[in-house]
Amino acid sequence: MTYDMTKVQSLYIHFPFCKSFCNYCDFYKIPLSFNHHRSIFSEFHQYLNNSFLKVMDSQALSADFGGIEINNLQTLYIGGGSPSLWGSSGAEFIKKFLTKNQITFDKDYEFTLEVSPSINSNSTLYGTLDGSLDGCLDCWRDVGVNRISVGIQTINSEVFSLLDRKHTIEDTFILLDYLRNNNWNYSLDFMIGLPSYNNKDRDIVCELSTVNSYNPSHYSVYIFSPKDKEYPLHLREKIPDEDAVCEEYLMAASYLKSEGFIHYEVSNFAKINKESKHNQRYWKNNESYLALGPSSCGFLTDGRGTKGVRYSFAHDLLNINFDIDLLGKKELLLEKIYLSLRTNRGIDALAVMPIANKEEQINLEKNFELWKNNGLLESEFPQIKLSAKGFLLLDSIMDDLFKCLQSL
Ligand SMILES: C[S@@+](CC[C@H](N)C(=O)[O-])C[C@H]1O[C@@H](n2cnc3c(N)ncnc32)[C@H](O)[C@@H]1O
Ligand code: SF4
Repeated sequence: MTYDMTKVQSLYIHFPFCKSFCNYCDFYKIPLSFNHHRSIFSEFHQYLNNSFLKVMDSQALSADFGGIEINNLQTLYIGGGSPSLWGSSGAEFIKKFLTKNQITFDKDYEFTLEVSPSINSNSTLYGTLDGSLDGCLDCWRDVGVNRISVGIQTINSEVFSLLDRKHTIEDTFILLDYLRNNNWNYSLDFMIGLPSYNNKDRDIVCELSTVNSYNPSHYSVYIFSPKDKEYPLHLREKIPDEDAVCEEYLMAASYLKSEGFIHYEVSNFAKINKESKHNQRYWKNNESYLALGPSSCGFLTDGRGTKGVRYSFAHDLLNINFDIDLLGKKELLLEKIYLSLRTNRGIDALAVMPIANKEEQINLEKNFELWKNNGLLESEFPQIKLSAKGFLLLDSIMDDLFKCLQSL
């Protein structure tokens, strides 16, 4: 059987370098040595070019999909690490990479760059930093970046001091000023449930309302979870208990809602039409996307829920290797249910019903009543859409749901 080529319109690039490491970070990252950044970047550029060829030529990856065609990008996302440290050399690389591979943008494309307040640390407003490494944002705008995502985490100085980040809160405000004054469309990351000397140290609503005056179009609010076993015990002991974190999450969600933000995914809030297009493609689970960079993860699908393949690059800049997971109908369906429940689209229980047996259907309806009575839903049967409280209990709802669908 022959297949049409698989069209891909989303690309993620992982920039794995950071100037220094934050004490809670579990992401794959490599320290960026300022003296050698030119040679490190040139190695990284070679890695990206070679890994792109490897993905495009991989029989194991695309045999079932008739090959891969990537063009007319709807979304491009450069995440990290600290991609803003890539500076003008990164912007130049991306420009050449897209031209060389004949990749153009769709007319309504979204191109996001993650930016750290630390690029400002020499206070030369996004010009040359250290006379060599630069954090130039205007040159990214020139190659098409039209959305910025900033890791703020907190603007409470006591709480901030326990995160061991290498920029200052003042840097954060200088960056916010710059973004507002230069009309950037941008998103802010906050973390809640952060360690603090005293649980009452932090007022998340006050923090959000302070930064909201800078006019961001989007927020991501993540529950702090230091997975690394080496995260210091004395800090772990300062993490608030589960009830306090739930309360903080619900307060943040309710404040952002009152300011006109739509709670469109467990951790994400956007003004109308400012949802992250890139992440929405992940959550739909029926669109292919490519990923490049160590520890990044791409996905190819036939878009009909019958066949999929996920690949993850090894944590190694010197050897380009990726693991491949083949996904069948059942895995794709379970993933789709999980990812849809993460969003305000939810799922249609009737679409799931025909594949459940009679007993499972009865259980599903009973569970629905229970969830509804506990304030976990914002919908009437057969729609299953979670409320903010439901998002907090997503994992246990998924457990209930999977128990109902044992025969799948
Ligand atoms: C891909 S990370 C990288 C962002 C950037 N390197 C920075 O630190 O600002 C994106 C976001 O994930 C969140 N994050 C990072 N580590 C986390 C952790 N251990 N638990 C919860 N959220 C975390 C932070 O809000 C961060 O801004
Ligand atoms: S800057 Fe971001 S990616 Fe780098 S160590 Fe800190 S949290 Fe991790």
